[in-house]
Amino acid sequence: MRIDIISAVPELLSGPLDYSIVGRARKAGHVEVVIHDLRSYTTDKHGKVDDYPYGGGAGLVMTPQPIFDCIQSLQKQRAYDEVIFPTPDAPVIEQQKVNELTLLNNIILLCGHYKGVDQRVRDELVTLEVSIGDYVLSGGELPAMVLVDGIVRLLPGVLGDAESALDDSFQDGLLSPPVYTRPANFRGNTIPEVLTSGNHNEIRKWREQKAIELSKKVRPDLYNKFINKS
Ligand code: ADE
Repeated sequence: MRIDIISAVPELLSGPLDYSIVGRARKAGHVEVVIHDLRSYTTDKHGKVDDYPYGGGAGLVMTPQPIFDCIQSLQKQRAYDEVIFPTPDAPVIEQQKVNELTLLNNIILLCGHYKGVDQRVRDELVTLEVSIGDYVLSGGELPAMVLVDGIVRLLPGVLGDAESALDDSFQDGLLSPPVYTRPANFRGNTIPEVLTSGNHNEIRKWREQKAIELSKKVRPDLYNKFINKS
C-alpha cells in the first residue's frame, strides 16, 4: 500500500510516522508513506497557500491552485483509490471503515486548515471525507496520522500474532476486556484468579463477560448494538 499525505505543515508529520508500529511497517516495506509539502506547489510569489474567504468571516481558506496541482501531478503518476479529506464536518469514521481502507492500494490524504479548503477542491478532487470525532482540531495533520496508524497496523504482516488486531476493541463491536501483566500481586493488589488457572475456556468466557460489562457501563450504544445483533 502507498499513502501520500499532502500538508502545508509537513514538519508535523515526518517525525511521528518514523516510529513505533508505523515506522517499523515503513522500514519493513509493508507500506510506503510519502509526505508532500503543499507550499512547494504554490505559484504565489510569497509562498501562500491560503487566503481570505469570499463573503467575509474569520479565518483563512486554503486556495485551490496548489492542491489541484499537487493532487493532479500525483494522479498522473498512478491511480489512486481514494482522495481522503479529514474534516470535522463529515461522518465520524468507525472501525469497519478503517478495515475497508486497508484493502486499497494507493490513497491520498489531504490535510486542511480547520476553517477549511476551497469547496471546489472538495467537489472535484476529494472522494472521501471523514471526521475522527466530534471535536475540532486546528488542522488535518493529526487526523491524517490517526488514519495512517489505524490503517497500517491492520496491514498483513505488520502486527505479530501476539499483538493480533482481531482482539482490538471494536473489532467484535465491543470494548476490549482489562489486561494484566506481571507481577500477579502488585503491592497487595492481585489479578483475577482465572487468568492464572490455565483453563483457556474459562479465560475466554471471563474476557467475554468483562467486555460485555465494560461496554454496557461506558458505551451503552455499543452494548445495545451488540445485544440486538446476537
Ligand atoms: N480537522 C479538524 N478537526 C478534525 C476532526 N475532528 N476530524 C477530522 N479532521 C479534522
